[in-house]
Amino acid sequence: MKIRKAIIPVAGMGTRFLPATKAQPKEMLVVVDKPAIQYIVEEAVASGIEEIIFVTAIGKRAIEDHFDRNFELEYRLEQKGKIKELESIKGLGKLAKLAFVRQPKPLGDGHAVLCALPFVDKNEPVAVLFGDDIIAGKVPALKQLIQVYEKYEDGVIALEEVPKKNVSSYGVIGGKDIGNGTWEINQFIEKPSIEEAPSNLIVIGQYIITPEIMNILPNVKPGKGGEIRLADAFAEYLKTGRVLYGCKFEGTRYDCGNKLGFLKAQVELGLKHPEVGKDFKKYLKKVLG
Ligand code: G1P
Repeated sequence: MKIRKAIIPVAGMGTRFLPATKAQPKEMLVVVDKPAIQYIVEEAVASGIEEIIFVTAIGKRAIEDHFDRNFELEYRLEQKGKIKELESIKGLGKLAKLAFVRQPKPLGDGHAVLCALPFVDKNEPVAVLFGDDIIAGKVPALKQLIQVYEKYEDGVIALEEVPKKNVSSYGVIGGKDIGNGTWEINQFIEKPSIEEAPSNLIVIGQYIITPEIMNILPNVKPGKGGEIRLADAFAEYLKTGRVLYGCKFEGTRYDCGNKLGFLKAQVELGLKHPEVGKDFKKYLKKVLG
């Protein structure tokens, strides 16, 4: 079945970026000249996604407004002949069909997905994208995941290889390499110690979840702080003897959920930017001596 819908949980409070995120969503923080969330939506659309369900919370209205039309602004830009600026905003309201549902309490990423499920057909697999990871590459990472789904028709998880010493902040998988960057996963351990970790392949916040995985979610036992985690649903799924597939995507991931990752995204995407890239490079060379 074609993957047409994506769920993007954006309800998190962004505490790592306070005070910047006191009065604005962290997903709206600008990377070069676009809010981080726009990169993610554009990646979804470029991967064939037609409908996006954002799971939002109080204080996240700016995301909704960003992807809406703003007729007054369009009118004024047109009158002033600012055509380039006009083009940069006009298409945003038409990228995909968008829906916004609320997560009333911060009860985990699995709970966020559960908030969106009433709007997904019971037989329909969906993509889940976290609002933190910007991935740059020739082929959108989600498209690569969808290709793996189309081949195996089972759940797919985006994977990245990291030095073993860094695995403990992530979900880590175990399984076998079945070629072309694809892994057959039979183990999923959330935030293991270095000794426990079955590999150095970590889980990135991009997934394809199938109706079978969705059916497990409502029965996942809440963990720390009452949170329902997607990671637990994957681990339960594997316990039933099924496998998941991992896609070691080609591309560079910027973890915009923390300060250093966010700065790296600014620098690298800034260097590639057609308008300011060259001058920015000169400037950086000067600064670095
Ligand atoms: C979540 C997932 C984890 C994954 C990570 C990627 O953890 O539970 O498996 O590796 O996202 O960013 P969190 O960062 O919410 O603690």
